[in-house]
Amino acid sequence: MILSPSLLSADFSRLGEQVAALEVAGVPWLHLDIMDGAFVPNITFGAPVVKALRPCCGLFFDVHLMVEGGDRYLDDFAAAGADLLVVHVEAVRHAQRALSAIRGLGLKAGLALDPGTEISAARWLAQDIDLLLIMGVNPGFSGQSFLPQTLAKVRAAREALDAWGRPDVPVQVDGGVSLKNAGALVAAGADVLVSGSAFFREPDHAAGLAAFAAAAGAGANPETQRRPALVAAQAWRHHPRQQEGR
Ligand code: DX5
Ligand code: ZN
Repeated sequence: MILSPSLLSADFSRLGEQVAALEVAGVPWLHLDIMDGAFVPNITFGAPVVKALRPCCGLFFDVHLMVEGGDRYLDDFAAAGADLLVVHVEAVRHAQRALSAIRGLGLKAGLALDPGTEISAARWLAQDIDLLLIMGVNPGFSGQSFLPQTLAKVRAAREALDAWGRPDVPVQVDGGVSLKNAGALVAAGADVLVSGSAFFREPDHAAGLAAFAAAAGAGANPETQRRPALVAAQAWRHHPRQQEGR
């Protein structure tokens, strides 16, 4: 399991310090929630904040675009230093175009599905994605309760990706992830777990990471740990890009 803590639950008055501390604690990824007040009710931050945080750490930046027509901003987030850009199938009009544009920028391309969206929405996009995000809540806020039907959906997503010839595509789960459900999510097929409120509740990040690893480990077996998708995603690293910092 790869843990991707969501910056949304960090202390916004000292973000730079905190991302540096996350890296020192051994966290591999950072999840950045971009909300526009249109696709979702909340407004968070945009590419300038991502750009400002980029020199503070070498974490793999997992950027979750909850933006209506978010494909208008792909260049901005690439220039800001994103490594993975995830768009919602519900928020971009031409998802295949957006995904191939992300790859064209040299980034990993992710597709996110809202709780009510069928997995089959990803069927004809399967060759264009590097990651599939299954939402465990309706996007918009951290601290919401996990929707229990997500567990079966994660299982179905893993099976579908395998059936579509993409056993190498990791399944990410975002929203309501906690120490209570991490094991079951990994057992169901989750490779990457996003956590906001549950992770930041523990002030010692190394301890928080260890607690998640233990909880996820309870659901893992040698087969889940050797899953091609997990192995693939574990090799992903931040690659500084030429356009970064412009
Ligand atoms: C929800 C966001 C999540 C959120 C997760 O719309 O996409 O990334 O920050 O927060 P928790 O883990 O508290 O549900
Ligand atoms: Zn998110």
